[in-house]
Amino acid sequence: MAETATLSYGGKSYELPIITGTENESAIDISKLRSDSGLITFDEGYKNTGSTISNITFLDGEKGILHYRGYTIEDLASKASFVEVIYLLLYGELPTQTQLSEFEGSISKHTLVHENLVKVFEVFPTGSHPMGQLMTMMSALSSFYPDSLNPNKKPEETNLTVIRLLAKMTTMCAMIHKKGKGHPVLYPQNKYDYVTNFLYMTFGNVSEEYIADPVIVDAMNKLLILHADHEQNCSASTVRIVGSSHANLYASIAAGIAALWGPRHGGANQEVLEMLEDIRTNAGGDVKRAVAEAKDKKRLLFGFGHRVYKNFDPRAKIIKVACDNILAKLGVNDPLLAIAKELEEVALNDPYFVERKLYPNVDFYSGIIYKALGFPTPMFTVLFALGRLPGWIAQWKELRERNENIGRPRQIYTGYTQRAFTNIADRK
Ligand code: CMC
Repeated sequence: MAETATLSYGGKSYELPIITGTENESAIDISKLRSDSGLITFDEGYKNTGSTISNITFLDGEKGILHYRGYTIEDLASKASFVEVIYLLLYGELPTQTQLSEFEGSISKHTLVHENLVKVFEVFPTGSHPMGQLMTMMSALSSFYPDSLNPNKKPEETNLTVIRLLAKMTTMCAMIHKKGKGHPVLYPQNKYDYVTNFLYMTFGNVSEEYIADPVIVDAMNKLLILHADHEQNCSASTVRIVGSSHANLYASIAAGIAALWGPRHGGANQEVLEMLEDIRTNAGGDVKRAVAEAKDKKRLLFGFGHRVYKNFDPRAKIIKVACDNILAKLGVNDPLLAIAKELEEVALNDPYFVERKLYPNVDFYSGIIYKALGFPTPMFTVLFALGRLPGWIAQWKELRERNENIGRPRQIYTGYTQRAFTNIADRK
């Protein structure tokens, strides 16, 4: 017999079904709770709320496990390319060599952006944040593809939008970097693979031949894979809730970019580097002072803590090892790495962090690698977005394929009860 949970309230009891996933996590199904009992549930920040049923990503925060479509993040980060992972997230299976070549080929046919979109960059003031630019560019893309506004597209039409978006994302991210530097933009060269093309458009130069450094290409693939999906996080939930109103893919992804920008989510990678730089230059490298300030709630230790991981973040483990390797291979000696390691050591031995189960997260070491690869700090969250794009798209597709209802939470109202209207002349 199917398991149930019993809720007693107001002298009555209600049987609530239990639903269990393939990895044995269980949830109380309350979809009929309000109609049966008049009650809603209250869970600020959704710490205990499952918003959907999903086949894409599994994570176990207690055990530090992360799987995309059943494959471990450790295997994917060490054995797959980013494009293989994009394919896996979108279509559910790892591609064969033929499928991968066809997929890369179709993406490369769509890497150019409309020249009018390139002109949009001219209106941004110097120094405008890359994430604000990316968000604008993403919603602007919808204007160039009016057919994408139709919510009732056939699967092959949706797939074309998906391919366009993946292709143009690398071009737009690279253009943001070039415009920030005041350098001429480089147009895509479709002889390169997805990641190399992005690196060429970002670090290539109109006056020189571009020679891809395999260390940088490998590092970039790994970082993008590690960021590719993370189930119902803040930005993915945003993409799903916007998509649930049948908003188009560009608008839904633009909303995801907005959510990611926040310093408690993807924006933390920029904050980490600025924090380490601050400790180095303004605190003489005194990490103990930074830890003491965090304990006094005077600052957050960016790159620490996670809503779901309460043991360790498996992505952070991989990135820490990669950081040592990549810096050594590139011959970079960054004093911020030593500060980061000391900060981790001090924090992990402090009861405040131990009791609250605060461990380094994916953002703690990633910025040091991005810096070594040559990216300026304000670009870091754009790189997170580039990696997360396939996850957002997979979440949006799944929502639409499941024909999910519009997302619309309820609330407990604590404002005034009904009161009489006062005419303006009588107000004090
Ligand atoms: N530094 C100092 N104290 C912290 C930190 C931190 N980084 N993170 C949490 N705490 C404290 C918090 O003040 C609270 O203390 P108390 O019990 O005394 O009130 C306790 O730990 C629990 O924190 P919480 O805010 O209830 O935890 P949460 O699960 O709601 O928040 C978080 C998770 C990631 C928003 C939070 O840990 C944080 O703000 N971290 C810093 C920002 C960051 O690195 N974000 C990147 C997350 S990973 C990448 C991604 O997917 O976005």
